[in-house]
Amino acid sequence: MPVSGQQASSPGIPFTRYLASKKPIDDRALNAHVWDEFARAVASFDKPRILEPGCGIGTMLERMIERQALTSAEYLGIDLARESIEQAPQRLAKLAVVQGYDVVSAADGGSLHITGSGTSIEARFMQADVFEMAGERGSQGAWHLLMAHAFLDLIDIPSALQTLLPLLRPGGLFYFTLVFDGLTVLEPELDSALDSQIMQLYHRTMDERMRGGIPSGDSRAGRHLFGHLRQAGAELLEAGGSDWVIFPRAAAYSKQEIDFLGHILHTMEAALAGHPELDPKLFTAWIAARRNQLNDRELTFIAHQLDFLGRVR
Ligand SMILES: C[S@@+](CC[C@H](N)C(=O)[O-])C[C@H]1O[C@@H](n2cnc3c(N)ncnc32)[C@H](O)[C@@H]1O
Repeated sequence: MPVSGQQASSPGIPFTRYLASKKPIDDRALNAHVWDEFARAVASFDKPRILEPGCGIGTMLERMIERQALTSAEYLGIDLARESIEQAPQRLAKLAVVQGYDVVSAADGGSLHITGSGTSIEARFMQADVFEMAGERGSQGAWHLLMAHAFLDLIDIPSALQTLLPLLRPGGLFYFTLVFDGLTVLEPELDSALDSQIMQLYHRTMDERMRGGIPSGDSRAGRHLFGHLRQAGAELLEAGGSDWVIFPRAAAYSKQEIDFLGHILHTMEAALAGHPELDPKLFTAWIAARRNQLNDRELTFIAHQLDFLGRVR
């Protein structure tokens, strides 16, 4: 629902609110052809066991239910963030009830059973590091479907594939979506040289990101994933673009778009504040000018991303 005349959200909204704001934007962005092939492949399983590392607040499972892409399944969503994992089952229960399903929640609140109209989905959410969980006994070859949404560009993909793909049974599917691929656009242009310097440095922060002493990020993860999957011996079935594209429709953004764009500007500011190659005054003025464009309903944002559907042999 477009909203006009509303102030852009202040920087630093909770991450769960950012993820909630991202959901309708992701709905639009997901590649329709890759999704159709994914939904068709999922339907070929009787009762798939689905694993989703980096599930956040659980929007991908919500989407599958909303789009009726699942009838019977066992789902496990894993995320490091406690707040997301706490919100996910509450959101899912609400959504399932609105969709007309019966919901039984477990006493611990972390899992629920959704039934009705021939549907039976057992969903569980767990706060954990997927790479630690992958090392546990019994996890290898245990899953029919591995989903990772807006996740792969945050980690070291070659080593992650070595750990994650063996979790799938032979013939198991992976659906890797919204993998960032090296292009962020903010329009209208402010100062062409400064704009491109800032984008270059911003992308470099992704390439240089370290977590726990391990390289964790790639600003061109999307294009590199083709080769990484080939090297991992996986079969790629489909791939396609899933760019985020946000612009003021009829001089307005939706509430979610305002939160989302505010968060993107906040992320860029946090990533580059104090960067030795940037003049701090120029950068502060640049961020303020971008916030003004958002408040004035002038800002267009594009991020290039790719979706992948494939299978292990
Ligand atoms: C950009 S968010 C995407 C969340 C969700 N897929 C979505 O799009 O709404 C990436 C998520 O991955 C989680 N994450 C990062 N590393 C992880 C790990 N090693 N194990 C589990 N979750 C992880 C983060 O906590 C974060 O919630």
